[in-house]
Amino acid sequence: MADKLIIFDTTLRDGEQSPGASMTKDEKLRIARQLERLKVDVIEAGFAASSNGDFEAVQNIANAIKDSTICSLSRANDRDISRAAEALKGANSARIHTFIATSPLHMEKKLRMSPEQVLEQAKLAVRFARNQVADVEFSAEDGYRSEMDFLCRVVEAVIKEGATTINIPDTVGYAIPELYGNFIKTLRERVPNADKAIWSVHCHNDLGMAVANSLAGVKIGGARQVECTINGLGERAGNCSLEEVVMAVKTRRDYFNLDVGIDTKHIVAASRMVSQTTGFVVQPNKAVVGANAFAHASGIHQDGVLKARDTYEIMRAEDVGWSANKIVLGKLSGRNAFKQRLQELGVSLDSETEINTAFAKFKELADRKSEIFDEDILALVSDESVTSEKERYGFVSLSQHSETGERPQASIVITVDGKEVKGESDGNGPVDASLKAIESHVKSGAEMVLYSVNAISGSTESQGEVTVRLQNSGRVVNGVGADPDIVVASAKAYLSALNKLSSKADRVAAQG
Ligand code: KIV
Ligand code: ZN
Repeated sequence: MADKLIIFDTTLRDGEQSPGASMTKDEKLRIARQLERLKVDVIEAGFAASSNGDFEAVQNIANAIKDSTICSLSRANDRDISRAAEALKGANSARIHTFIATSPLHMEKKLRMSPEQVLEQAKLAVRFARNQVADVEFSAEDGYRSEMDFLCRVVEAVIKEGATTINIPDTVGYAIPELYGNFIKTLRERVPNADKAIWSVHCHNDLGMAVANSLAGVKIGGARQVECTINGLGERAGNCSLEEVVMAVKTRRDYFNLDVGIDTKHIVAASRMVSQTTGFVVQPNKAVVGANAFAHASGIHQDGVLKARDTYEIMRAEDVGWSANKIVLGKLSGRNAFKQRLQELGVSLDSETEINTAFAKFKELADRKSEIFDEDILALVSDESVTSEKERYGFVSLSQHSETGERPQASIVITVDGKEVKGESDGNGPVDASLKAIESHVKSGAEMVLYSVNAISGSTESQGEVTVRLQNSGRVVNGVGADPDIVVASAKAYLSALNKLSSKADRVAAQG
């Protein structure tokens, strides 16, 4: 019988550490629901001790998600571990993930601790965590740059204290596949009680080898858990990408001989959700989830695929959730058809009110756009006005005028706490004028650190999806707006970001 490969997703913790990728509690919960739909084995929901906001995010996810194990990161100290345990109380299955650095560089320069002190602290932390929950993961931060003898001692000791999973991160993305695979193999051979724990890999992508290193850790090293993120999101060059590692193991089952529980048809929706929430656009040629991942442009390839798909296709687009450019609904489609399509796309809205709001938006869009694609529907439901109850700012209407040689003018009507107000401004272009018209009222003082426009379904008839990232008083938020008119989409995205800035939602960057 094949072993199972445990998929541990850390989009909401390590992924969120990416500058600008911080998420609100509601956004995290929404992504956690999608990860549950994907059948991720373990969801690292955050770092409970890092802030009240992250504590609540972990708590909400622990209370809401029932099919995946919910995990919180914690440093190797009693306070962090207690906070994690407290946040995880409502979980069906809870894991505490405690870590301490074990490389000479980190111990000496960052922790200013001797190896013996680190060893002692690791033991105490795991002992303390095991008194709170049965499932305890220990990570040796910067494990790959640690000395083998010392690392063996630490790992043996924490397994004796009850650690059930041992994770050996390549924290700085320094590893090479063969060397990393052998590093894990040697550790497993040398640690006397190695068989009492599951071994895990956690690779960063600084040299573009996070997926390859993780796979080597599995194949050569015998690791049975991979830590990864949707779209490879993460600090610097990111983490091992979930969709790539999962599809590699599934597509090459002949080589890996491992079972993976992931329901791959929800991958594309998860990728879109994470990209829209964080404003981190997926490159078109990104494996599995990039817009071109299954596009055959050359004549020879197209001819081959038409004759027999497997001439050039090693995976089926529909198996990972692509139903590209399929006209799914139109103006005459009813609420039930819309609701069913949402289900097929793996989107579950929480209440009938949310479905009604989304359906009203769909009808509005269908009046202006004859063909509605899956991508349009996903953009529509990612619009925060569908899923959040109270918003400070709302979009009402916009008119703008631009003519060659003249400075564009915009006039906008928005609601502020339910009351309509009008703002006017000129600007460098229609978008600039419209956002300045909003600012003429709101006076947020926020700095725009990202503005990006993306055509949702390819043609000029398609909706424009705009992402705006604003920064104010140390907080960074993303707003997304979609509309066939990109100036309107920009105004919606800007208002959505302002709503997040004005909410009390605590944004945290968990450390790790
Ligand atoms: O990269 C790393 O070392 C980590 C650990 C905290 C697991 O994220
Ligand atoms: Zn990491």
